[in-house]
Amino acid sequence: MLNIKNKWALVTGASRGIGLRVAKELAKQGCKLIIHSRQLAGTKSLLDELTAAGHEVYAVAAELNSTSQVEHLITEVKALSNNHLDILYNNAAIMTKYQPLFAPTAEEYLTSFMVNSIAPAKLCDAFLPGMLARNWGRIVNVSSGISDQPELMAYSCSKAALERYVRDMMPTLFGTNVLMNLLDPGWLKTDLGGSLAPNDIDSVLPGALIPILLEKEQGSGLLFCAQDYA
Ligand SMILES: NC(=O)c1ccc[n+]([C@@H]2O[C@H](COP(=O)([O-])OP(=O)(O)OC[C@H]3O[C@@H](n4cnc5c(N)ncnc54)[C@H](OP(=O)(O)O)[C@@H]3O)[C@@H](O)[C@H]2O)c1
Repeated sequence: MLNIKNKWALVTGASRGIGLRVAKELAKQGCKLIIHSRQLAGTKSLLDELTAAGHEVYAVAAELNSTSQVEHLITEVKALSNNHLDILYNNAAIMTKYQPLFAPTAEEYLTSFMVNSIAPAKLCDAFLPGMLARNWGRIVNVSSGISDQPELMAYSCSKAALERYVRDMMPTLFGTNVLMNLLDPGWLKTDLGGSLAPNDIDSVLPGALIPILLEKEQGSGLLFCAQDYA
């Protein structure tokens, strides 16, 4: 398995749910970790827990529905990592409410695209050039297996846009040791997934780590389904 000890990693949406599990696992693997949520208070207990266990961890806060806060987040992460981010885990997202067909508002589409597609894309845009220059990087963009649920159209379309970002970046990454892949975590009992979800949150591991631990030749542009490894 790939050794990622001392690699700099950013996990967005690390305060709870899937991001929290991924962050703890990356810390266990020896990464120097930057954990994100909207408020520093959101990641305080994780920061305290990991720091007490001897890990190098920093917390950052940003509302991903704000262009200026995304820009500030990028500046902060570059400063913390000395412009050397190795692993980007684009996990944070929002899901619009389940609602009647044709009902999502333009505002709901805009917010969904901003948080779930544009912010992750801007984070990729910010950190891919450095990864390519060093010829090492791992990016996971968390998507969803959602299909045929037009009641969640704004959410679903925003994930489709994120998948398209990954697909169209493939020729740029081909042959490099910078791998960018997608994760479908499965339907999990998180705040976003809700209590009816069939899978426990912890079932996202070890699958969620697989696209980080790939060797160069194992490729890019793939969709990993965490439940296949649960
Ligand atoms: N759970 C599922 O069944 C499921 C299924 C398919 C895909 N997914 C995907 O898996 C990922 C994680 O989902 P989850 O279930 O773990 O969600 P969750 O428990 O609701 O956690 C969401 C995380 O994203 C952050 N976040 C939410 N809105 C944000 C915003 N506007 N700006 C910045 N950060 C924001 C939250 O931070 P705060 O603490 O600041 O709120 C939190 O850390 C998402 O990409 C989701 O689409 C989940």
